[in-house]
Amino acid sequence: MAYSLEYFQKSVDYIRKFVSWTPEIAVVLGSFLGPFADAIEDPVVIDYGDIPNFLVSTVPSHAGKLIFGTVAGRRVVCMSGRFHSYEGYDFEQLVIPVRVFKLLGAKALVLTNAAGAVNAAYRPGDVMVVSDHIKLTGASPLRGPNIEEFGPRFFDVSRMYTPELRRLALECAGGSGLTVHEGVYMFFTGPQYETPAEIRAARILGADAVGMSTVTEALTAAHCGMPLLCLSVMTNMAAGVLEQPLTVGEVLETAQAIAGPFSGYVKSIIGRIGEVGL
Ligand code: HPA
Repeated sequence: MAYSLEYFQKSVDYIRKFVSWTPEIAVVLGSFLGPFADAIEDPVVIDYGDIPNFLVSTVPSHAGKLIFGTVAGRRVVCMSGRFHSYEGYDFEQLVIPVRVFKLLGAKALVLTNAAGAVNAAYRPGDVMVVSDHIKLTGASPLRGPNIEEFGPRFFDVSRMYTPELRRLALECAGGSGLTVHEGVYMFFTGPQYETPAEIRAARILGADAVGMSTVTEALTAAHCGMPLLCLSVMTNMAAGVLEQPLTVGEVLETAQAIAGPFSGYVKSIIGRIGEVGL
């Protein structure tokens, strides 16, 4: 389906009935990372299902709520639950949330996700500040007629993971209680986890972590010129790195164990985001 500016504006008009102020920073919470939402002060909660032209979460670990409020003194909009192509959404549909945030006036986007560690020096529970990504499968979310109001047909992505935000995130790592790396995220469509051979290939290609989300939102932000930070939580070593099979249980267990310190870490970054002019 080809979208128009009006399509996204319809979602914005509905949201504006409940939230009159402008969210400065948009945050997308990955699988099992929902507890960050508890840190949001004076929350206004809107169900995805109530927003015209929005999408709905079909994954149980994704709450499906848009939460507006304050974190570390900054006005935020937070997506508790995101959309993935493995749910059956087209890549082109996955632009919707970020474009709605842009039209709401958000100045920056913070993406979080759960990922498998490809880099053998990483450990479950570590965090990776994404410096770049590899996406060799599936269409671009920007496929189809270009909407000039968002950005140009062809656009540079060589600095899409904003260097100043990456630096800030690395600075905030000290005192967070977390081990924070910087590395490359490789996208796989899922919903199956990768094969050990795919993980070996990913490592040869230069990936440090793999996951099933994020790149569509990141590309949408790059297209409309939104500063972007992406943080991956290593919930497991990727397939074949260890002897044992990969289980959803270990992904959940690590994500739950890290949710507290990770929420604190994201909050500390938001609290200092003014230092990079945002
Ligand atoms: N692969 C893909 N996505 C993931 C993984 C993984 O190992 N862990 C959490 N999300």
